[in-house]
Amino acid sequence: MSRSYKIAVFAGDGIGPEVTREAFKVMDVAAQLGGFELEREDYPHGSVHYLETGELFPQQVIEEVRRVDGIFLGAIGDPRVEVGLVERAVISGLRFHLDLFVNLRPIRLFADKFCPLKDKGTKDIDFVVVRENTEDAYAGIGGIFKKGTADEVAMQQMIYTRKGVERIIRYAFELARKRDRKKKLMLIDKANAIQAHDIWTRIFAEVGEEYPDIESEHAYVDAACMWMVKNPEVFDTVVTTNLFGDIITDLAAVLQGGMGVAASGNLHPGQVSMFEPIHGSAPKYKGKNVVCPIAAIAAGQMMLDYLGEVSAASNMECAIEKALCSEDVTALNTTSGIPTDEWGDRVVEQMRRL
Ligand code: IPM
Ligand code: MN
Repeated sequence: MSRSYKIAVFAGDGIGPEVTREAFKVMDVAAQLGGFELEREDYPHGSVHYLETGELFPQQVIEEVRRVDGIFLGAIGDPRVEVGLVERAVISGLRFHLDLFVNLRPIRLFADKFCPLKDKGTKDIDFVVVRENTEDAYAGIGGIFKKGTADEVAMQQMIYTRKGVERIIRYAFELARKRDRKKKLMLIDKANAIQAHDIWTRIFAEVGEEYPDIESEHAYVDAACMWMVKNPEVFDTVVTTNLFGDIITDLAAVLQGGMGVAASGNLHPGQVSMFEPIHGSAPKYKGKNVVCPIAAIAAGQMMLDYLGEVSAASNMECAIEKALCSEDVTALNTTSGIPTDEWGDRVVEQMRRL
């Protein structure tokens, strides 16, 4: 019997369904060539579903997705709904309920022509950001007191637990070792201003002692942003807090050609995990067939890799690279002139040629 994987799919809002369609177009071919099957279970949850039914993200769905092999998410967000409501319910809901404590965000420039930095190229931009994914200001501890009055008070707590910090740092050290490139791990924090970040400093030093083969480095987040633009080649493996990881990976995404190409995996190693492009739902482009779905396709590639279909995943990566290197590809956003569905066809064509 051939291998079969059950995938829960949340195509979501805006351009989510279009990019998800392209990701599965390519993944299905990878599966066919690799001798396995992807059994897709679609879920309607997202802003449109919320507007139509009032339902956000029921407990029953959380229980169901615990039992699948993988989860794929297109994009969530719609200007007609209160800011962040559905994002918190669905994206953060999956991250928190499934304890997906690693947000893995690889940053790799496939071709010099997509690099916005002067005198930098593919050899300079190849690193991975390990973003903590279940704590920090995202933990939901906070709110607004006396809202809308002159006495209004707003607060949101940044929470870091020993368990949470230690497991993400350990994951990052293991990854730096596995990558086997520069054998460096950089902690990015703001311990000079945020006292609570001292827990990161201490645990990073403690865990680092177990990895004498990995060089420990440190940068404050403001300086890290400067280095990312000035000398991106200094980065190999990076570990950081949830909020800083969110911010610096949008910056990093631009180094590799933009949000049209940046993918992520929300992981709990050994358990069901969720894969998504880093970009949002871009409502103004919805249904126009103009966005670049490479980020979603690359998220699919990360999912296959996680499922253990390592050679199918590496073929997909190769096909993505070949498609992007084609001479007529000059941009990875809506100005590329390449329709969304053609991107998927192009990657499929490269897969079949490998
Ligand atoms: C991301 C997104 C989310 C985040 C939003 C939509 C809640 O920006 O995955 O990077 O902040 O984590
Ligand atoms: Mn983000």
